[in-house]
Amino acid sequence: MAVQISPSILAADFARLADEAAAVPNADWLHVDVMDYHFVPNLTLGLPVVESLRKATQTPLDCHLMIADPDRWAPQYAEAGAGSVTIHAEASKAPVRTLREIRSFGARAGLALNPATAVEPFEGLFGEIDMLLLMTVEPGFGGQKFLDMVLPKVRAARALIERHGGSIWLQVDGGVTAETIERCAEAGADVFVAGSAVYGAADPVAAIDALRAAATR
Ligand code: DX5
Ligand code: ZN
Repeated sequence: MAVQISPSILAADFARLADEAAAVPNADWLHVDVMDYHFVPNLTLGLPVVESLRKATQTPLDCHLMIADPDRWAPQYAEAGAGSVTIHAEASKAPVRTLREIRSFGARAGLALNPATAVEPFEGLFGEIDMLLLMTVEPGFGGQKFLDMVLPKVRAARALIERHGGSIWLQVDGGVTAETIERCAEAGADVFVAGSAVYGAADPVAAIDALRAAATR
């Protein structure tokens, strides 16, 4: 399992996104949190910003859609050149169609689950996804405390993934820091989103190196 770090630009300066992307050259992905005031009580950015950011950086974009109608909007993020597009299971009414549309544009398709959403009911979708995202905070805001209650689900998800051939990436998002990342990795996660732990650090490059080292240990 290769460890990958995906810094969340939610914790970056939105007025200087190109610079903030350039500030993390050792990132595997740039995590882009799209929020719509409906699925979550916060509003961030949408397709026009993703289209611009795509041209401003070589780092692939990992778009996490916390929006009420992902079936309508997700394929457009893939078409805009996102490397990965993740939809929430709680919001999608037609996940098979939407995940297939995302893949049809050449992007990786992700399925996200909130802390209280069980993974087992979605095992049937594993053939349609490239990544499973387990939220380790309630979605909507950066800087929240990591929820240890999700760790058993990370472990269970890793076991299910292995049963399906092991190629699906397992991402954790929310409260991931140098302190919490080790237990996420130990439970079986391999892609780590970190907002405040990277962009809140004095040296974001060193923060990514430290996270990667802790997850690899
Ligand atoms: C929360 C977002 C996360 C957030 C993580 O709803 O999905 O990606 O940016 O921020 P930290 O790492 O600060 O918890
Ligand atoms: Zn996110």
